[in-house]
Amino acid sequence: MGFLDEIKKRRTFGIISHPDAGKTTLTEKLLLYGGAIQEAGAVKSNKIKKGATSDFMEIERQRGISVATSVLAFIYKGKKINILDTPGHKDFAEDTFRTLTAVDSVIVVIDVAKGVEEQTEKLVAVCRMRNIPMLVFINKLDREGKDAFDLMDEVEQKLGLQVVPMTLPIGMGHGFKGIYNRWNHTAQLFEGEQKQKKAAVAAFTELDDPKLLQKIGAHAHKQLRDELELIDGVYPPFDQEAYQKGTLQPVFFGSALNNFGVQDLLDCFIDIAPPPQPKTADTRVVLPSETTFTGFVFKIHANMDPNHRDRLAFVKVVSGTFKRNTNYLHVRNNKKLKFSSPNAFFAEKKEVVETSYPGDIVGLHDTGNFKIGDTLTEGDALQFKGIPSFSPEHFRYINNADPMKAKQLSKGIDQLMDEGVAQLFTLQLNNRKVIGTVGALQFEVIQYRLEHEYGAQCAYENLNVYKACWVVAEDPKNEEFADFKRVKQKFLANDKQGQLVFLADSAFSLQMTQDKYPSLRFHFTSERTH
Ligand code: G4P
Repeated sequence: MGFLDEIKKRRTFGIISHPDAGKTTLTEKLLLYGGAIQEAGAVKSNKIKKGATSDFMEIERQRGISVATSVLAFIYKGKKINILDTPGHKDFAEDTFRTLTAVDSVIVVIDVAKGVEEQTEKLVAVCRMRNIPMLVFINKLDREGKDAFDLMDEVEQKLGLQVVPMTLPIGMGHGFKGIYNRWNHTAQLFEGEQKQKKAAVAAFTELDDPKLLQKIGAHAHKQLRDELELIDGVYPPFDQEAYQKGTLQPVFFGSALNNFGVQDLLDCFIDIAPPPQPKTADTRVVLPSETTFTGFVFKIHANMDPNHRDRLAFVKVVSGTFKRNTNYLHVRNNKKLKFSSPNAFFAEKKEVVETSYPGDIVGLHDTGNFKIGDTLTEGDALQFKGIPSFSPEHFRYINNADPMKAKQLSKGIDQLMDEGVAQLFTLQLNNRKVIGTVGALQFEVIQYRLEHEYGAQCAYENLNVYKACWVVAEDPKNEEFADFKRVKQKFLANDKQGQLVFLADSAFSLQMTQDKYPSLRFHFTSERTH
């Protein structure tokens, strides 16, 4: 198969949802339909179970599992499907945001009874900002929930989307009888308990088929007919280009647990979802069809085995082919690196791979060279953009609690920051170190991992910070900037890249500072520099 055909057949996407909407179940069912697993229950949940004895112990356990589920790949009807796993827990939303830089589309799962929830809103907002094509799966139709049309209104209003229903439920809850698929004009009826196997369906291509009428009853039949008419009148027709540009979102209904509506989703998905997309770098846009290899690191998993300091860096191939034992330029360090055992992912296994194509994810064993956002290339020294550095919301001083282990502590902090667990700020005034995280849970994770992986002890001390702002002066030599640095010295820090950060202690002081120094720009995230 030619290079361009390899690109065309890849579909790399992520599934996002509020916890408990059914992301894990849907992922598993997609694998089941893809023939990658034989029965449900084979994919271990990577979510942090509620009520676990200790959240961070649970996280440790889950870290092991989540390496296996980071990328789930399988072949379905000639297409190579790469599902990139995203953590559901809100304290790890950061990982999800970074993974979203590596997907070409997403599936948003919504619980029919709960409707649009908080985490979904946040994640969809990020996808909208980046124009990522989105497809919506409304799950748990086997339970009583909201009316399909009300829910589509809610999706449009709360998520700011323009939807077009591709399937429509016939009944709901106890009366859930089946799905009408507008994509292939087929009514499919749900037959019996289907939890473990692929759903057995009775399919009707004619709406007027008397058997269909007989099975669902005159009332449901009329309702279906009316609703299909309503859809034609109210919703725009499906337009693949609009979907791929991120301006139109197809909606599907079903029950992941019962395998219902999942195949409709998957079959339509492989037809309409975009193949690997171009990606913007600092100097230009890189097309997947370019023959020289480029890729970037979007995730790092470290120290899975405490006896080896091994890390696995996940690289999305953007263009060209990635080959084993070939020298590539690591742009940030300006160093050539080659990899003797790059991993590809297949279902739940990883195996050494010779060649990977755009859209694929390669796992590279790393001894500490990589940071999130790093670019690898075969050609020009470009740097991919848009790998977000987040705005931390919780801040604490981190102190060394075991003076004999200062070196271990500093190395541990350094590596955990590279992995993207949190951000480190060093106060200019006294060199004290401050950790900023998105969720409070990360402090426990850091403490636990420093102790278990690096043999270092840390202690935290509270610090009152409202927000970290990256400060850019249009003219670094101007008097205003010098005044700012003098007056606010107590609140200034450097991030790991040496960029200037203002740690504002309240919304009020931030506002006052912005007003007083209009020539300075305050950013709430640090788009990576080198
Ligand atoms: P998440 O990854 O989005 O957090 O959700 P997950 O798939 O783990 O699903 C959350 C719960 O919802 C699970 O139940 C799961 O079985 C259930 N669920 C998923 N899809 C459907 C569906 O179509 N219909 C119904 N009725 N339930 C569904 P749980 O009791 O929390 O976990 P478990 O003990 O069943 O694993």
